[in-house]
Amino acid sequence: MQTEVAPTDRPDFFKDAVHRAVELLAAGEPVALPTETVYGLAADALNPDAVAKIFIAKDRPAFDPLIVHLPHKDRLPEIAIVPDDIAPTVALLIENFWPGPLTLILPKNPAVPDAVTAGLPTVAVRISDHPVFQRVITSLKRPLAAPSANRFGRISPTSAAAVLKELDTRIPLILDGGACHAGLESTIVKIIPGDPKPTLRVLRAGPVTKDDLKAFGRVEFANAAPHPDHPVAPEAPGLLASHYAPLTPLRLLAEGEIFQPVPGRRYALLSYRGDPDDGSFGLPCWEHSIVLSPGKGKLPEAAVRFFHALRQLDELGVDEIIAEAIPERGLGVAIMERLRRAATPQPVPPA
Ligand code: TXA
Ligand code: MG
Repeated sequence: MQTEVAPTDRPDFFKDAVHRAVELLAAGEPVALPTETVYGLAADALNPDAVAKIFIAKDRPAFDPLIVHLPHKDRLPEIAIVPDDIAPTVALLIENFWPGPLTLILPKNPAVPDAVTAGLPTVAVRISDHPVFQRVITSLKRPLAAPSANRFGRISPTSAAAVLKELDTRIPLILDGGACHAGLESTIVKIIPGDPKPTLRVLRAGPVTKDDLKAFGRVEFANAAPHPDHPVAPEAPGLLASHYAPLTPLRLLAEGEIFQPVPGRRYALLSYRGDPDDGSFGLPCWEHSIVLSPGKGKLPEAAVRFFHALRQLDELGVDEIIAEAIPERGLGVAIMERLRRAATPQPVPPA
């Protein structure tokens, strides 16, 4: 199959690209679309054959459920059933964060195919605020299942070029909506009723931070990354310990740790702010280094550039990528969650 990349950066291109995407989606085909977080591989959420094509294109195991994106918040009842005891909190979260990078886990409507939810009684749901995604889904007028548009376990794509590298020849169309402006996948939250306050259990840290959420409940992190030596079933089934993994081994330094190179090995550095005082940036051993946010270090800038930087370093062919720790506050929590997963050793495939 030939994969086409359709630009959207002129009104006529935009119109044509949206039209073609809607046609393919209505015919049950998958299409890669930009969202504010990362690019998603979308298909009609209520068509099991279309959903199956997402799993095939991504090599995604059937146990990993998808996120359903809505055209409008009024369409929520078609996908999820909101229990009375959390309804006020759900309403507030929707009012404050949709459209945007917050995914809610709710009991599913039986109309949602089991393939979407991997047989779980719950469904993940959000609304994207990306103009290209919005135009496609509101023209189609149907909910779209869309996981990140990468092969399973690999680095999430934040540009159309990255999607093409991941899924070339596997899907018919990618809409190019430019670089994603959040750069990290949505925050996933499960609401647990409680008096006087509900608990907001963060299954995946993301652009909506603890500070953003704390007005709506007691925020706790599910710590969904099990230790590689003690694997336990994670609450978000896709959040296996090893994820977002570059093919090059990645080592995450402890805060302030000074890297000790082994002579003869080739290294690349992922630095937070490019400051030699942080420990390793000034060392002479780097074949290449990328600084996520030069100067004082700004977490939103680091988040936007993170997956692209990881992808660039992965393409160098060095022996090891060394990553500096990032301050674990605000968006830094989400970046560190991904760095820890990227650093988990991959099982060695049989020769
Ligand atoms: O920002 C995003 O969320 C992007 C864009 C495209 O919207 N999508 C995304 O999808 O990151 P994906 O499939 O790469 O990650 C979805 C995660 C998976 O780890 C999956 O296990 C979890 O959501 N998930 C889906 N349904 C769930 C459920 N019912 N309960 C718990 N976790 C669920
Ligand atoms: Mg993903």
